[in-house]
Amino acid sequence: MMIILLVLALLPFTTALQNGLALTPPMGWLTWQRFRCITNCQKYPSECISEDLIKRTADIMLSEGYLDAGYNYVGIDDCWLEKTRDKRNRLVPDRERFPNGMKAIGDYLHNKGFKFALYQDYGNKTCMGYPGVLGYEAIDVQTFAEWDVDYIKLDGCYVDISKMDTGYPYFGKLMNESGRPMVYSCSWPAYQKKPDYDSIAEHCNLWRNWDDIQDSWSSLSSIMTWFAENQDTIAQYAGPGRWNDPDMLIIGNFGLSLDQAKVQMAIWSILAAPLFMSVDLATIRPEFKEILLNRDIIAIDQDSLGKQGLRVWNKSMTEIWSRELSDGSYAVAFVNRRDDGTPTVMKASFEVMNLPEQTYKVQDLYKEDEDRFFGPDGEFYTRVNPSGVKYFKFVPKISNDVEEKTYFTSRI
Ligand code: GLA
Repeated sequence: MMIILLVLALLPFTTALQNGLALTPPMGWLTWQRFRCITNCQKYPSECISEDLIKRTADIMLSEGYLDAGYNYVGIDDCWLEKTRDKRNRLVPDRERFPNGMKAIGDYLHNKGFKFALYQDYGNKTCMGYPGVLGYEAIDVQTFAEWDVDYIKLDGCYVDISKMDTGYPYFGKLMNESGRPMVYSCSWPAYQKKPDYDSIAEHCNLWRNWDDIQDSWSSLSSIMTWFAENQDTIAQYAGPGRWNDPDMLIIGNFGLSLDQAKVQMAIWSILAAPLFMSVDLATIRPEFKEILLNRDIIAIDQDSLGKQGLRVWNKSMTEIWSRELSDGSYAVAFVNRRDDGTPTVMKASFEVMNLPEQTYKVQDLYKEDEDRFFGPDGEFYTRVNPSGVKYFKFVPKISNDVEEKTYFTSRI
């Protein structure tokens, strides 16, 4: 009887997915945004989607501290397949670019301490026209399990949109039954006008909500706007095991300035977003690498409470985003979307920042400003670069030591 009661008591807190994975937003590296569908290895040997690219990237992630910082999934997005299945209807990886097959990739990654992520599509073709899973779902899940895949990104090109609401849960059920724990990344809501988020959050570990990110500030900006404007609908669904996904990090590529790259890292961590880099780690400039490896910001993204932050203030193209953390601290980002040419001074009260009134030690997460104290007697001021961010952690100050006398509320 006790056991039954216990099971009943736990029921509302378990999801149908029940795979126990992605308790914090998954982190890693994925081919798509930077390497797209480059398949000509003669012409572009260091950029084509291939075994070499995956191994080289994993080697760098291991030797240069990315794995250590938490980026543990290495993923192949679209364009890894032969155009036809084999005689037994199984998927075949491109024979030239993946000469040893996908199990060998899985082994290589696992031996180095990584996990293996792979892309497929619920339709009869992937977005780039390679064979999709439709009609072969059970065989494909089985194949992925045999290759020791740890994470499936299931896209939604060439799918009858009305079939997604049953198709995605069905594929997830097959994943569960495969016996191999695999993270389930769904593109399901990105293709629908009115997604059923109750069902999506029940069946997927993460889901792409909206458009693909492109390598530009305007694309990044539009995603931030979409997430802010839809936060009342979507934020409540995020939590351990289930995450909204604003798409890959474009930090270190061609399109973002250093300040803009800092904006993406800050806002993605406020959003409790999956952090998938998509960049050439062999050539990334050190200042961008430093942003990707900012441990304090990664810790915010990975906070165990898993509560997605919100844009709490928005006026004259300046915004404040705020996220509550498990230890009672808050992450607060001041974003300036203006292109004035000079930094903009932003000021904020507790109410505006969505913070309980108390004294805080305020740490600048990009270490541009000195740490300061901020108490109920002041307004918070900061100066933010054009298309830039100032990102702080407000840590409640418990003790009454001498430092407290130096509340920093001065104007800039
Ligand atoms: C869609 C997805 C992208 C990427 C491409 C691959 O556009 O949203 O993230 O996977 O397909 O073709």
